Parts: sequence; structure tokens; C-alpha cells
Amino acid sequence: MPAADGAVERFRAARRDPELVVLEGFHALKHALRFGAEILEAAGPEPETLQALARRLAPDMAERIEECVRPVDPERFRRLAPVPPATGVIALARRPALRPEALLYSDDTEPVVALERPAHLGNVGAAVRVAAAAGAAGVLSTGPHDPWQPEAVRGSAGLHFALPVVRADEIPASDRPLVAIDPEGEPLRPGALPPRALLVFGSERGGIDEATLARADLRVGIPMRAGVSSLNLATAVAVVLYSRLLDRS
Ligand SMILES: C[S@@+](CC[C@H](N)C(=O)[O-])C[C@H]1O[C@@H](n2cnc3c(N)ncnc32)[C@H](O)[C@@H]1O
Repeated sequence: MPAADGAVERFRAARRDPELVVLEGFHALKHALRFGAEILEAAGPEPETLQALARRLAPDMAERIEECVRPVDPERFRRLAPVPPATGVIALARRPALRPEALLYSDDTEPVVALERPAHLGNVGAAVRVAAAAGAAGVLSTGPHDPWQPEAVRGSAGLHFALPVVRADEIPASDRPLVAIDPEGEPLRPGALPPRALLVFGSERGGIDEATLARADLRVGIPMRAGVSSLNLATAVAVVLYSRLLDRS
């Protein structure tokens, strides 16, 4: 479909459409393609510059990017997103249909990362990115934010397509051991995390809800120097997931 034909309206409407994903920038498009996203349309004002970038940074995806990105005039491109991506490309993809139960009850023995009411979509994206890198089974988030909002997908650099990312109203009950990752918990030690854990991380300001803490099978803290109150949410996710990988090496 030509990018000039109603593209501004389509890209704007897609930001609120639960069946679509807006991919802002080259890295988001690259990862989405690499992990099997169905791209519905993509537009960029300078196809040759974009191709040079793709050949340099992602030669495995350069041909696919060339095939799917349509040229659009710079003035129209600037209107496709509130902040036009600096890497000169924006795309729409179909959102995978996923349910929390399918993630929680999957056979995958890797941990599921649960973010309880995260406030910042950038943190959600950074958590998805590290969960994808560390081989987590998936990411679940509660609270008002849709974890597939463009800002979160930008934060994950499109790695939402590399693992299941779902929203739930509450931290669901499941047969996975519920591990609260909380500064007040027992210090994180090698072997501390059980297989198939549901690792719950709290919100940036308030931490984990009391009711969720009461349900936890285990409460684990990341040791910190005296005087430091807490780590950034996505940093805490990274430490816990990678400590587990290092346990195995
Ligand atoms: C910015 S912190 C929230 C700080 C909040 N004031 C509290 O007391 O929990 C966001 C989340 O990151 C995780 N986190 C941050 N630092 C941590 C640490 N040292 N140990 C365990 N979890 C930590 C926890 O899941 C926490 O709920």
C-alpha cells in the first residue's frame, strides 16, 4: 500500500489499536522482522540512507527492509508519529494474539517476568529487551499501561516479538513458584531461584503490593551498598535474570 495513501490517519489510529503494533525506528523494525512479525506497512523518507544503515547494521535483514519500506515525503513522514524516528523509518505490524494462561502454563522452564503496575513504558521496554536477551519465557505486566504501546516497543527495540508479552489485571495464580523480587528479601545467592519461577517486580515508586508479597513463595533481594534504596526496575530485572544464567555456567 502506498505510504502516501491515508498513512497519517492509519499510523495515528494504530497507536490505540489493540490488534496493531507501531514500530518506531530501524532497530524496532529489524528485530520485529527477525522474530517473525507480520509487517503491514512501513515508510521512510530516505530509502537509500535506510538501505545503507541496514547493510551496515543488519545485513541479514537488509533485503526484507528494502522490500517492505515505501518512500514517503519528509513532510508526511514527520506526521506519522509524535516524534519522528531519527533512523528514518516507521512501520505497522500485526500484534500477536497472546493470553496470560498460555504463557504461565507453558512447558518453558525459564522464568516469567511479571511487572506489577509499572509506571514508565520505557522501563517496560527495557525489561522486555533484557528478558528476550536472557531467554526468559515471557513478560507479563499489570496496571493501566498496555505493554505494547509504541513507547514500550521503542524501549525494547522491537524485541516484544522475540517472546510472549501480555497484560493481566492482577498477578495471576499459577503453578509457577511466585518469587517476589524485593529489596527487603533474602539476599540473592547462586541457586536461590527455583525453575519455572514467576518473578514479580514492583512498581517504580511503591514496589510490590502487600497482597502480592503475602502470596509469594519466596522473597529475594539484590544486595546493595548501604544508603542505596533500590535499583531501577529494568536494572533489577537484568540482574536477576543474568544471575540465573551465571549460576549455570
Ligand atoms: C525502583 S524499585 C521500587 C522501590 C520501592 N520504593 C521499594 O521499596 O520497593 C522497583 C522494583 O525493582 C525491584 N528492585 C529494585 N531494587 C531492588 C533490590 N535491591 N532488590 C530486589 N529488588 C529490587 C523491585 O521489584 C522493586 O519493586
